[in-house]
Amino acid sequence: MRLQNNISLKKYNSFGIETIARDFYIFSSNDALSEIVDNYQNRILESHFILGGGSNILFIQQLLDTVVLKNEIKGIQLYKEDENYFYVKAAAGENWHQFVLYCINNGWAGIENLSLIPGTVGASPIQNIGAYGVEVKDLIESVEAFHIADKSWQNFTNADCTFDYRNSAFKSKWKNQFVITSVNFKLNKIPILKTSYGAIETELKKMGVQELNIRAISNAIINIRSSKLPDPKLIGNAGSFFKNPSIAKDQFNKILLKYPDLPGYLNIDGTIKIAAGWLIEKAGWKGYREGDAGCHSMQALVLINFGNATGWDIYALSEKIIDSIFKEFNISLEREVNIL
Ligand code: FAD
Ligand code: EPU
Repeated sequence: MRLQNNISLKKYNSFGIETIARDFYIFSSNDALSEIVDNYQNRILESHFILGGGSNILFIQQLLDTVVLKNEIKGIQLYKEDENYFYVKAAAGENWHQFVLYCINNGWAGIENLSLIPGTVGASPIQNIGAYGVEVKDLIESVEAFHIADKSWQNFTNADCTFDYRNSAFKSKWKNQFVITSVNFKLNKIPILKTSYGAIETELKKMGVQELNIRAISNAIINIRSSKLPDPKLIGNAGSFFKNPSIAKDQFNKILLKYPDLPGYLNIDGTIKIAAGWLIEKAGWKGYREGDAGCHSMQALVLINFGNATGWDIYALSEKIIDSIFKEFNISLEREVNIL
């Protein structure tokens, strides 16, 4: 088993940015992963990057002097059942949305609100993907991973992963240490339908849904997402470029005096989470374009590559947006997308 050299990653990232990986390897089994680490452990420990679907990455380097390990391990298996739950193991290289549809087809409930999120199953715990009132942490029983330095296989419970809003131990204290190889999900036998977030109910009415079920919710969410998020196959992007910031209640009230329509959601710690897309739109960036880098006209939180932007063009625009939001609102936006 050998590393490939000088591979273009343009087709492997949803921003469609050109970059060359000095060393590249696709693995589609646990054995292939441990074998490549056996063969090249020193080089891999020097510098490496685990690549899933490339939908949460912005490449700013033209040449990545690193080992890119692309995960394509496949397989889905119902491994246990009890009175209330189905326990399902999905390999890390499975496509996330195809996995969601597979669950819906089998009547495994709870995952439907996470329909149409790009990327792989293995990346889902990294930033605790979330949408429409559900986060993947609500569904994860455990995570199986390979520790590159120790060459050991480990199993983490949900609590071990210290999930948070767009964060987990894999993105913080264990960053780059583990390759997630599979995720074990606990899915409901009796669906608990969640329709209160955003436009779901309006969309269900528009669709004329007679019988509410997990497939109808999935379809409603697919429709809503398709209407405002750009399809990466057509326009390069990585979804929300920034996280939604949380601020103190006093600061929220101060901003409300000038902008009474500022959307805010109370966190359990008493801070208020506010919509970064709203801030960016209010600061005048929505629909902005500079060369081939831009801010999406339907969702200001999404930065886009119109075709030939470099990673630096997108990054430079994100810096300008951060500066402008700080000047206008005294709020520091944090990037959600991984920069490499
Ligand atoms: P990659 O982009 O390949 O990698 C992301 C990070 O995870 C990197 O740090 C990488 O090293 C690490 N990683 C990936 N796989 C593994 C593994 N097996 N083991 C260890 N580390 C790994 N996100 C949301 O949360 N909610 C949304 O609603 C949402 N909507 C989106 C809409 C669009 C149009 C797009 C383009 C993106 C959206 N995203 C959303 C972001 C993205 O889809 C998720 O972050 C997704 O989980 C990334 O998966 P990936 O396989 O593409 O990961
Ligand atoms: N808004 C604006 N202008 C905009 C965009 C949004 O005013 O240009 C306002 C909306 O009107 C709404 C609020 O902001 O009042 C929230 O908007 P939306 O429901 O579209 O969600 P979001 O906060 O912009 C988050 C996630 C998305 C996830 C959606 C749906 C983050 C960083 N983003 O976006 O996740 O799909 O909620 O749950 O938390 C991602 O992480 O990549 C991603 C796409």
